[in-house]
Amino acid sequence: QARLRGVVALDGPSGTGKSTVSRRLAAELGAAYLDTGAMYRAVTLAVLRAEVDTGDPAEVTRVARAARLTMGTDPLAPAVLLDDEGVEQQIRGPEVTGAVSAVSAVAEVRELLVATQRELIAGALEEPGGVVVEGRDIGTVVAPEAGLKVYLTASSDARALRRTKQDSSEGRDGDLGSTHADVVRRDALDSGRKVAPLRRADDAMELDTTELDVAGVVEQLNKLVESRDLLG
Ligand code: DC
Repeated sequence: QARLRGVVALDGPSGTGKSTVSRRLAAELGAAYLDTGAMYRAVTLAVLRAEVDTGDPAEVTRVARAARLTMGTDPLAPAVLLDDEGVEQQIRGPEVTGAVSAVSAVAEVRELLVATQRELIAGALEEPGGVVVEGRDIGTVVAPEAGLKVYLTASSDARALRRTKQDSSEGRDGDLGSTHADVVRRDALDSGRKVAPLRRADDAMELDTTELDVAGVVEQLNKLVESRDLLG
């Protein structure tokens, strides 16, 4: 079984299937996996627990600095520990989802997390198998040297539908209308922020997943990995 060499960066808005396909790709290629969105979510959970105003960058930064975040990089069971507590479920709830754009727009928070992300990537590259990293600014800021950069897109209707299905399969309720509104709202916030906005890196391949299922996207990604000679 051929394994990945180096870094694959997967960016794009929410609901493109990014997490599912990133994990599957990493598992298939014997690679580590890093979910950078989970890191912004975990810091947001810490901010909410501290009952700090998410609109106050200084307070948000203080909480972010104090939070001890431990990220697992196993694609089959990506652990997220906040001060030693597993928070994989809690970071997916509506409170965190509603507040994460504000927290991730704070420059100092990004600086802190980007530094940690680079350390985690460097650590993963010391092991065989490379690393698949997903987020919004991986190809542009975190790992511009990545051997393959892919920017996933999908229509907002398709993305809202996927989010709704994912929510109900994981036991969270939510209706299509409000999920669609949330998808559009978060896109605008993520793309419009001053620091590291969501955008396609100039050298990223764009992959529209509107008409593709998970297997179809993973197949396309595998082809791109092969074509870049990233297997060893
Ligand atoms: O991928 P996700 O929905 O779990 O990401 C949660 C939020 O974190 C998203 O609204 C944007 C932000 N984020 C970011 O700003 N930069 C990243 N590299 C990853 C996520």
